[in-house]
Amino acid sequence: MSRPIGPDTIVLGIETSCDETAAALVMGGTDVLSSVVSSQVDLHAQFGGVVPEIASRAHLDLIMPVVARAVVEAGVDDRRIDAVAATVGPGLIGALLVGVSAAKALALVWDVPFVAVNHLEAHLYAALLEDPDLELPLVVLLVSGGHTLLISMEGHGRYRLLGQTIDDAAGEAFDKVARYLGLGYPSGPAIDRDALQGDPHASDFPRPMLNDGLDFSFSGLKTAVVNHVRKHPDVSTADVAASFQQAVVDVLVTKARRAAREVGAKALAIGGGVAANSLLREQLLDACEEDGLRGFLPSRSMCTDNAAMIASTGWYRLQHAGPSALDTGAYPNLRLPLLT
Ligand code: KG4
Ligand code: ZN
Repeated sequence: MSRPIGPDTIVLGIETSCDETAAALVMGGTDVLSSVVSSQVDLHAQFGGVVPEIASRAHLDLIMPVVARAVVEAGVDDRRIDAVAATVGPGLIGALLVGVSAAKALALVWDVPFVAVNHLEAHLYAALLEDPDLELPLVVLLVSGGHTLLISMEGHGRYRLLGQTIDDAAGEAFDKVARYLGLGYPSGPAIDRDALQGDPHASDFPRPMLNDGLDFSFSGLKTAVVNHVRKHPDVSTADVAASFQQAVVDVLVTKARRAAREVGAKALAIGGGVAANSLLREQLLDACEEDGLRGFLPSRSMCTDNAAMIASTGWYRLQHAGPSALDTGAYPNLRLPLLT
C-alpha cells in the first residue's frame, strides 16, 4: 500500500453479485465521488427473473465501461485510486467472478491493494455511509432478495444476529407474490406501486410469527395469498398487493422495534432492496418516533444494489482488517461473519 488509509483514501468499489453492474469511487469511506449502476432489468424481464448465464455475459460486456464511467464522473485521475474493492459473495457465482476478476486485474495494474467485500456487510454499511454519526449499537433490518436478518452492529466487523427468516426472504415473498399476481418484473417495485391503488385492509392475511421472538417466516403468507386469489378469482389485484404488503410491513416493523428495544439500541436503520419499499419506510419511521429511537433510512438508491456501499465497506475493512489476498475466490453462499 502506497499511502496510509485516511480521509483522503479513494476506493473503487465493484458490484456484480446479481443483475446490476455497478462501480463507484468513495473517498474516506463516506464521500461518494461517483456511483454508476447499470441495471440489466430489461434483459431479464422477458424471463420474469434473473437468468444467471445472461447476467454473467452482460456483466462481462458492461464492467469496464461502467468502471470507466465511474472514474470519469468522479473527476479524478486513476492514479489517485488507492484500493479496489469487490463483492466476493454471496451471489451468483458466474456474476461474482466477473467483478472479482476485474477488481484483481485493476489492483495489479495500478499496484494497489485488493479488498474482498461481503455483500451483506455492505448493505449494513449503507446507513453509516450516509450518516457516519449514527451511534452504535445500531440495529439494522437487512431485507433483500435472498436475506431477512436483524443485526446488532456493535462495531466495525462486529455483528450480532438477533433474528432471521426460517424460510423465504422478504424480497423473495414480494417477488413470488408479484409473479403470481402477474404484476411483472422487477417485482418488489411493482407491488409497491400497485399497492398505492389498493386497500391494505381488504384481506386480512396472516402476520406470521408476529408475537414470537425475532425470527421471521414468509412462506405461509405467500401460500395464504395464493389460496385467497384461487378462492376469489375476481378479487382486485391492487387490494391483494396492498394487503400482502401491509402484512409483511407489520411483521418487519414489529420485530425491528422489538429488537431495538431488547438490545437498547440508540438507532434503527434498514438496508437491502426491500428497504426501498415506501410503506416500510413510512411505518418504520413512525414506529421509531413513537419509541423515541433514531430511525435512519438510507436513500432508496443506497438500499438497492450499488457499488458505493462496496467501496465504503472496503475502506472500513482496509482500516480494521487490511487488504485481501489476490487468490481470494468468489463465494456464492458467503455468510455474514457473526459474533458468537
Ligand atoms: O438488495 P437487493 O437489491 O438485491 C439482493 O441483494 O438481493 O434486493 C432485491 C430485492 C428483490 O426481491 C426486490 O423485489 C426487492 O428487493 N425490492 C423491493 C422494492 N425494491 C426492491 N421490495 C419491495 N418494495 C420495493 N420498492
Ligand atoms: Zn443486495
